Amino acid sequence: MSATAFARGSLRMLVLIVAAFLSVTYAKQVLRWSDEFRAGCTDTSVCVNGGIDLRKWSFDLGDGTDYGPNMIGWGNWQRQCHTNSSANARVEAFPGKTDGMLVIQGGYSPLRTCYNENAAPSTTNYTSARLTTRNTAAFKWTGTAGNSTAVRIDVRLQVPSVSGTWPAAWMLPTTDKRWCSGCSAYGDGWCLGGEIDIMEHVNTNNFLIANVHYGGQANASWLDCHEKVGRFRASSRAFAWNTLSLVWDSTYIRFLANGKEFSRLNAGDWYTGGADPAANKFAPFDQDFFLILDMAIGGLYPGFNIDDAAVAAGKARYHIDYVRVYDLLP
Ligand SMILES: *[C@@H]1O[C@H](CO)[C@@H](O)[C@H](O)[C@H]1NC(C)=O
Ligand SMILES: *[C@@H]1O[C@H](CO)[C@@H](O)[C@H](O)[C@H]1NC(C)=O
Ligand SMILES: *[C@@H]1O[C@H](CO)[C@@H](O)[C@H](O)[C@H]1NC(C)=O
Ligand SMILES: *[C@@H]1O[C@H](CO)[C@@H](O)[C@H](O)[C@H]1NC(C)=O
Repeated sequence: MSATAFARGSLRMLVLIVAAFLSVTYAKQVLRWSDEFRAGCTDTSVCVNGGIDLRKWSFDLGDGTDYGPNMIGWGNWQRQCHTNSSANARVEAFPGKTDGMLVIQGGYSPLRTCYNENAAPSTTNYTSARLTTRNTAAFKWTGTAGNSTAVRIDVRLQVPSVSGTWPAAWMLPTTDKRWCSGCSAYGDGWCLGGEIDIMEHVNTNNFLIANVHYGGQANASWLDCHEKVGRFRASSRAFAWNTLSLVWDSTYIRFLANGKEFSRLNAGDWYTGGADPAANKFAPFDQDFFLILDMAIGGLYPGFNIDDAAVAAGKARYHIDYVRVYDLLP
């Protein structure tokens, strides 16, 4: 999603038309990591904003320039300032239940001063939030490449229907370089290390997408980036609760909606310009990736026709019921 390449015109999109819906079942699922976003956490040493667990999540703040001046707008001209305010990210109880959900809510605040951790403040017109497991957890299949056991990541979520919104559940490769976006074992800069988008939605679209980014060139990482987009044609179900899943093994990446596969890639369909494809057909998706839950307001994917009135009225609300990570055993 941090598609600098969108701006460089090197986009080559392959839309996978779904020919068949296949159910995916496994003999054994073992829960490895999860967040149920339970409401009512009172231990302020670990929870903020009604139950966001800081042992699992950290906030990315600001307008993106923490990651360098060319990352203003998070690499693709997003318009929001990310904050850690409960106005933008909080755990709420479901009406009538003790279980909770994460709410990421966009705000309309014209000419607000935007705080950056690692760069000068700026002025923005929208607020939102971006939570990551960058500092706490990262995932991939287990075992060795070519003889591995899949990981499955389920995200149960509900997207808003508001022009200009871009909610997502996605993954980037881990890196020790704190202020680098897109750095990885395969080089510095998106998209050498790859990106896995479990769910993206924009505007009032009646479908959700999943996406894999890969490719790049060793010394010009954004050149020759590719995408493989899978579309969950949710139709009237787009704005209902849906469970989007990534099932990721060394030899394949599959995307599911409500347990049914709608997109698939196999090792060899992807590569990184940071390594010889013939030498390692599993790269770059043989490294750990961390999770990101965020919602942009404006940007190259949704465009800039932002429904200010709906955002101001609090309708730009992205709900996440849970994130569950399983090892799938044969
Ligand atoms: C929000 O970020 C600021 C700046 O890093 C920090 O001082 C504050 O404690 C954070 N608040 C929450 C709720 O995380
Ligand atoms: C932000 O809002 C101000 C005042 O409403 C407007 O003049 C300005 O063009 C807006 N900025 C952007 C980037 O849309
Ligand atoms: C694959 O991994 C399993 C479990 O680690 C191991 O028992 C088996 O020998 C491996 N097979 C090959 C061909 O390496
Ligand atoms: C990339 O840059 C490095 C160091 O500047 C150089 O050694 C290498 O040959 C370059 N690779 C390509 C493919 O241009």
